[in-house]
Amino acid sequence: MSNNSFYITTPIYYPSAKLHIGHAYCTTIADSVARYHRLAGDDVFFLTGSDEHGQKIQEKAEEQGIKPIEYVDKIVAEFQNLWKMLNISNDDFLRTSQKRHEKVVQEIFRRVYDKGDIYKGAYKGLYCTPCESFWTELQLDENGCCPDCGRPVKEVAEEAYFFKMSKYADRILKHIEDNPDFIQPVSRRNEMINFIKQGLDDLCISRTSFDWGIPVPIDEKHVIYVWFDALTNYLTPIGFLDDKEKFQKFWPANVHLVGKEIVRFHSIIWPCILMALDLPLPKQIYGHGWLVVDGSKMSKSLGNVVDPVELINKYGADAIRYFLLREINLGQDGNFSELALVQRINADLANDLGNLLHRTLNMVGKFQQGEVLAPQGKSEIDQSLINDAMAAVKTFDQGMAEMKISNVIKAVWAFISRANKYIDETAPWALAKEAAKKQELANVMYNLLESLRIISVLIAPFMPTTAEKIWLQLNMPEKFADVRLDAIKTWGGTPAGMHIGEAQQLFPRIELEKEEAAPQKSEKKDTKKAEAKPAAADGEITIDDFAKVKLQVVEILEAEPVPKADKLLKLIVDTGTEKRQVVSGIAKHYEVKDLIGKKVILVMNLKPAKLRGVESQGMILAATKGDELEVVSVDMPVGSVVR
Ligand code: MSP
Repeated sequence: MSNNSFYITTPIYYPSAKLHIGHAYCTTIADSVARYHRLAGDDVFFLTGSDEHGQKIQEKAEEQGIKPIEYVDKIVAEFQNLWKMLNISNDDFLRTSQKRHEKVVQEIFRRVYDKGDIYKGAYKGLYCTPCESFWTELQLDENGCCPDCGRPVKEVAEEAYFFKMSKYADRILKHIEDNPDFIQPVSRRNEMINFIKQGLDDLCISRTSFDWGIPVPIDEKHVIYVWFDALTNYLTPIGFLDDKEKFQKFWPANVHLVGKEIVRFHSIIWPCILMALDLPLPKQIYGHGWLVVDGSKMSKSLGNVVDPVELINKYGADAIRYFLLREINLGQDGNFSELALVQRINADLANDLGNLLHRTLNMVGKFQQGEVLAPQGKSEIDQSLINDAMAAVKTFDQGMAEMKISNVIKAVWAFISRANKYIDETAPWALAKEAAKKQELANVMYNLLESLRIISVLIAPFMPTTAEKIWLQLNMPEKFADVRLDAIKTWGGTPAGMHIGEAQQLFPRIELEKEEAAPQKSEKKDTKKAEAKPAAADGEITIDDFAKVKLQVVEILEAEPVPKADKLLKLIVDTGTEKRQVVSGIAKHYEVKDLIGKKVILVMNLKPAKLRGVESQGMILAATKGDELEVVSVDMPVGSVVR
């Protein structure tokens, strides 16, 4: 068992509004990585917090007629409540308004100033208030607006302190070039290299036009410009000023996990400040992608901002965590849709995982009165299950160390499917009928319980509550919180002789129809907007209308005629996550055998309907002209999205 220290951080969030599902996404990733390292036996420090200073917050507080601190106290309490609801296991929560942070920022300012790397000058620049960022003319977008958020910038001119960032340009460039893992993913690394090669300006680090900030220690007229204040948050809670031992243990950080648009601040400005302080640089800056909702960027004006609190209340924290971590490849942008969430809950959680637990516990209850009997000997099938379990543990261990979270989850679920298949292969219900097969049955039951013990640990970083529920239902003697990864690196940890606990449902299936029928917030808004606008040209739809249709490649597994309906075929298709039944009017155009194995395009989110009394969950696309018809088939993997 390793016993390394591991320090991971999220960005500190602006309390300018409530947090949305995109923020929850970032913190959930960090939480799953922190939980994995704790499982692996590392000494973990996981930090998140709030970035509370700056002009924008001051203006918001003024609008409400309250003091900035009163304004942030309220919103930050909501942040903390969200993290509690989402089961985030942060070791500290840093607020930049805390005294302990003020001391750190002022000390850093002093040290860098004494070194000669801070000077007073005049700042004339273009400032984006919402992003708290200065821009040069050249950096603005084609509309002359902020290149990050597209909003107008304003010209400001004032006396200010500057950090000599240009002095460190060569050193940071060399560091990035020499350390390929420093910025991940590679696409972000390349962007940063290009950015530095265009030349680095010195950085304005103080302002006089507002006062909601940490005073510059040598000149109280000035407050420290937010990024200098914000980035240094990573040093405060690990004892930079007051706990040398702790600081040595956790600095440099292993990874600063941040959204793609703030990689620049973390991989250029922050390292330059650290160089000026003669401190080591963080080992990695990981830039994750953005979460969009039903294909569009979240925004108040579109009315599609998804509130994680509402979702957690509706579906539970573990389901949301699972969806965010499974659905999106770290580093890439990903889509959130409530329909896709419900489909994942039904297919992966209620079906695959829930059924495995339920079937196993039921059978142990029924065939062995709940007793775990000792296994003796192994069949070939048993051995293959054991090999697959050990391979899944290995993939988990390696993959999580590299933060390949979505791939790891896929591998764990492949093992869950494998264990479900093991039930079908060994047919315990048949073994139970023959007294001579008692030991064989005991082996099968043992192997299933042991698989579930391993699975419960493997899902712990993603779904901590569900993992523990499984552990308790298995009635494992050890306290779940004390379990480490080593406990599942060898097969056979389930003690024989004990009795299993009480079986309880993990995830109830959610009726899709009800969910689809429920109007979504964004749809309500859209309707209003549509009413206000002149009617669109005949039949014309917007890209948003089109984006509502979820098209996906599926494979036809089975086809059979629908009785008394000569045009209809009942198809069973594989969507990659589940099997669906679809009724299609193509019977006159195809022989059944020619359809099997064909990959076709299915409308995934069509409301289920009954055709001649047979339920159809979707519709496959076909091209028709006159009497001719051909289903649209493609040669792409099952599950590919068609857009
Ligand atoms: N306060 C700064 C960070 C300072 S870190 C020293 C900040 N705050 S923020 O609240 O605007 O954003 C915090 C994080 O949320 C960023 O990493 C940003 O990428 C992330 N997200 C905001 N919207 C997001 C999505 N829609 N999807 C995923 N993450 C997104 O920047």
